[in-house]
Amino acid sequence: MYGVVNKSLKEMMIIQFGDERWQKVLDKSGVASDSFLSMRAYDDDVTYKLAQAAADELEIDLDDALRAFGVHWVEHTAAKEYSALMRATGQDMLSFLENLNGLHDRISSTFLDYRPPSFLVDRDAAGAVGVLYISERVGLTPFVEGLLSGLASWFGETMDILEIRPEEVGSGEKTYFLVKMG
Ligand code: HEM
Repeated sequence: MYGVVNKSLKEMMIIQFGDERWQKVLDKSGVASDSFLSMRAYDDDVTYKLAQAAADELEIDLDDALRAFGVHWVEHTAAKEYSALMRATGQDMLSFLENLNGLHDRISSTFLDYRPPSFLVDRDAAGAVGVLYISERVGLTPFVEGLLSGLASWFGETMDILEIRPEEVGSGEKTYFLVKMG
């Protein structure tokens, strides 16, 4: 994945736990210390190794580390470094999610050959909202949970995730989230 993702994970560790702890994560991961240039594409393995090393260092589940990272991505990276893009994408959580493919499309001339996920929103899902996340990768569903929570708080909305149904499809993953907005 592009270095901007690895850099955001690094920044989360430093903000929440300090430089020393981050250094331990980096050592544990075995990842090269020059894997954090925002506009360079790295092997996905770099990101996975960093997330696993952070979970090991903090003695938490990988899924919990990914959830925390999702929240951090929205609060610190997307909202601060890409605030204009974020604001142009939607005024509320659901319209934002409906326009999220457009956001990822719009930056495809910056992040060449990148492989962003896609999202489908179904507002008619019997009293709740269905959000389908489709990725070429496997294992990032908890990251998306964190992203959804981060987005809800960024918009000042309340959201409950009622159901999460991940399904591996080929070499990727498709996860259906059923959410209820407060
Ligand atoms: C405005 C800021 C955003 C930028 C600049 C951005 C950019 C990116 C980039 C560069 C990647 C890496 C893909 C690759 O290297 O192949 C990525 C992945 C991803 N993005 Fe975004 N994104 C933004 C906002 C969001 C938001 C708000 C969500 C919320 C749902 C989101 C969901 C994801 C997910 C889940 C991935 C992981 C890749 C996968 O699932 O396969 N992004 N994005």
